[in-house]
Amino acid sequence: MEGPMIRRREFLRNTLAGTGALLFTRLTPSLAALDASVDARIEVLLDEPLGKISPNIYGHFAENLSGVIYDGMWVGENSKVPNINGIRKELVEEMRKIKPPVVRFPGGCFADSYDWRDGIGPADKRPRRTNFWAEGEAANAPASHKYDPNQFGTNEFVHFCKLIGSEPYLAGNVRSLTAQDFYRWVEYCNSPAGSTTLADMRAAAGYPDPFSVRYWGVGNESWGCGGNFTPEEYAVEFRRWTTWVPRYDKQELSFIASGPNVDDWNWTRGFLEEILKKGRFHLRSIWGMALHHYAWNLSRGGTQDWFKGKGDALKFEAVDWYELLREGDRMEGLITGHWQVMGELEPERHIKLVVDEWGPWYKPGGEATSVDQLEQIPTLRDAVFSGMTLDIFNRHPEKIAMANCAQLINCLNSLYLAHEDKFCVTPVGHVFLLYAAHQDGQSLRTIFSVPDISYDRDGKKANFWGLKGSASLHDKQLVLTVVNPDVSAARETEVSVRGGTITSGSATFLTNSNIHAHNSFDQRNVVVPQSKSVEGKGRTLTYTFPPASVTRLALTLS
Ligand code: AHR
Repeated sequence: MEGPMIRRREFLRNTLAGTGALLFTRLTPSLAALDASVDARIEVLLDEPLGKISPNIYGHFAENLSGVIYDGMWVGENSKVPNINGIRKELVEEMRKIKPPVVRFPGGCFADSYDWRDGIGPADKRPRRTNFWAEGEAANAPASHKYDPNQFGTNEFVHFCKLIGSEPYLAGNVRSLTAQDFYRWVEYCNSPAGSTTLADMRAAAGYPDPFSVRYWGVGNESWGCGGNFTPEEYAVEFRRWTTWVPRYDKQELSFIASGPNVDDWNWTRGFLEEILKKGRFHLRSIWGMALHHYAWNLSRGGTQDWFKGKGDALKFEAVDWYELLREGDRMEGLITGHWQVMGELEPERHIKLVVDEWGPWYKPGGEATSVDQLEQIPTLRDAVFSGMTLDIFNRHPEKIAMANCAQLINCLNSLYLAHEDKFCVTPVGHVFLLYAAHQDGQSLRTIFSVPDISYDRDGKKANFWGLKGSASLHDKQLVLTVVNPDVSAARETEVSVRGGTITSGSATFLTNSNIHAHNSFDQRNVVVPQSKSVEGKGRTLTYTFPPASVTRLALTLS
């Protein structure tokens, strides 16, 4: 059996790779009529909704870290780089295409060293401050990366959010500021025009109307750079910070607690238990618990050392490709694991998970701009990783209230790279474009019955799943996204929709014959989506997912 299957795969790889061929077949009334030569099946169950996919799952993260803000987002009003009030114009234009729901700022670790007051008032009066990340900067890094010029503060960030149609999500400084500083920041942002001194300062900067910021992070990684608290200590701070915060015109404020690092179940449990000590009522002040997970350890079990375990962003073998995906695939177990712990302590299920940092993290050396700390050039591997991660979020709509890819530009899993007047959309950015169609849809249970992939992991056979994805329904439109992680084999698949009839469809996919393919300032369109419209009718279709690909099928149902 194996021989003919391999030959079939070879044939498909040679003839169909990169074409995204889509064939509709006639309605198959019984399993007996299914095409026996196809060993991969996807069944979308229209009658098994899982919950609404919050657009916030498609959120972003922009930290004041190296080239993210200064050079990436902010070029200044007098720059020769086209800009809108100092904000990079091309970034704004590209972001509008992906329907960005929310952006988190100013950090990250940076948040717990930031005084928001430094970033308001007349720009020429704002102080320069040592950036949290200064010590990691190269000797020849721009001064703005080491010493924060505070030209991009709350006003500029909220303005940026308005330009791209996003909600702002601000992270407070628990490590080095007070609860009073926090609620004064809320007052600056949200108090009505003319009502407070801070509202007057906002108006003097050109923003009389309240910013109405809803999402507020209470610290970041409080188990580490955010203060090295125990979960119990942090819970005490959280209670204090959220005991009273002004709500103007009864505006809803959503507080996001600093949550666990990866699989630190003790943090989740310890935090909630301590909150509960003052009564169940206090649980209601938590809107979300942040979860952070970076895929960094490509050592194949060789080490847990943060520095030694990392791999290269651009130079990698097939085994490193799978290793990264395995690390990223842990996300699903982290979500269900923390959700279980949360449910034991809060069965009412008001508190959701906020995965406000996720993505691959490689070792330094592959930066698009050599002085940009933590910049890496995303390849097709990172696109597949990102599609896989967004599918995981889509499959758990009742658990995830928000997620924020780390980070937006010039850092880690960037959607965009920019330097001076150069700019490009990375393969990750294109995945966000493809997946935007899921926003606000009804997530549907979808069964993937697909043989595993086998690969060599240091002389031992290892497996990884063959295809996975997610589906959402938008009235009569079905969106099905699918990742084929196989570096070399296309996967012919029978896709069926239980409870619906397909009247037409289209496929949009991202792939390349080179798994290292990436976009750069000089070659901006190496990895870009390709589309084909499809004519046909039926309830079952056959689609061949190209190797190393992310695909969106958009199907109209009757
Ligand atoms: O995204 C980079 C850093 O990773 C963030 O500042 C921090 O929260 C995390 O450890």
